[in-house]
Amino acid sequence: MKTLLVGYRAADLTPDLLEGDVTCHVLDIYHRHAIEKVHHAKVVCSAHLPEGPWDLIRFKTGPKVHSGELSLDLLQECHRFGCKVEVDFVGKERDRNDLLNKIKDDPKRVRSFKAEWPASVPGGEKLMFTSYPGCFCHRRLDEGGLALAEVVSREILKSTEACAGGDLSSEHRDIGASDHLRNLSILDMGCGCGLVGFLIANRLSRLSNPQTFKLSNVVLVDSHARAAEAATENAAKFGIPAEVILSDEGTPTRMDGTFDVFVGNPPYYSDYRIAEVFLETAKRALKPGGVCYTVVKNAAGLKPVQERFFKTAEVIGRRGYSVLKSTKE
Ligand SMILES: C[S@@+](CC[C@H](N)C(=O)[O-])C[C@H]1O[C@@H](n2cnc3c(N)ncnc32)[C@H](O)[C@@H]1O
Repeated sequence: MKTLLVGYRAADLTPDLLEGDVTCHVLDIYHRHAIEKVHHAKVVCSAHLPEGPWDLIRFKTGPKVHSGELSLDLLQECHRFGCKVEVDFVGKERDRNDLLNKIKDDPKRVRSFKAEWPASVPGGEKLMFTSYPGCFCHRRLDEGGLALAEVVSREILKSTEACAGGDLSSEHRDIGASDHLRNLSILDMGCGCGLVGFLIANRLSRLSNPQTFKLSNVVLVDSHARAAEAATENAAKFGIPAEVILSDEGTPTRMDGTFDVFVGNPPYYSDYRIAEVFLETAKRALKPGGVCYTVVKNAAGLKPVQERFFKTAEVIGRRGYSVLKSTKE
């Protein structure tokens, strides 16, 4: 009997659930690592459920486990295999019935929850981003991410103009500019569907002095399989050659010391633990003179954390958010 567990976290997995030929599916690689740390279990991290055949799917869901759209999207995927599906619903009976009623009449019907929404920075094109349930800010743009993209685009532009004018004084040598033709490499960590990295890359592709700066490398990292899927799709749609990496531990060591610009809009739950993983990666991945930009609602908490990794963090306000800028020595 082949069983697939969907929506279960490490702490949910009791020995009876794992008995037999069991595979666990997770959307975030962090959860795969968490399960593998404490259980001997087969774990698959992917944007969609792994191909069967399955005899039984156990699906754990509820308002505290998944958003409404993600719950329904995954339930549809469970029913695609035509096997028995048991729903372990955490929440009110009424909400459970609402969810099950949505697929009752035609369990094999597959609705698409893909969304497309526009975003742009000044001087850049309007890009139509694709996102899926499970992606951060599915269906809408995050103002913090937009603020970050706007500030970084503006700062890079300032540097290109200074370079074009031959002004390499330290005040204008942001982004590590040191000669007249720069190959610029950007790392967007916690990229979601690629909002920040792709807005910057698009703005740079429209420079009035393209001979000054050339975008040589765009790398995006996210721990969520659906974010990586959406970012990959968006890169192709926008014609931006980019590498998308699914990881919760930053970039591989082969990329250490190779980036000019790091951008990150980390999640701020669990204190600053995840922000620290971002900053640790930024410090490793940047070249000397490379610049790290993060964004947060209120700088007071993040600033001392960022200053543990970089000597100083300058605060730049935008759209009610703070962008924190540090340079690697
Ligand atoms: C606040 S969202 C920002 C998304 C996007 N950059 C934006 O501004 O709209 C944070 C992203 O970080 C991702 N994330 C969380 N922990 C991570 C980790 N350890 N490594 C990589 N990405 C992570 C989440 O999956 C999420 O997509």
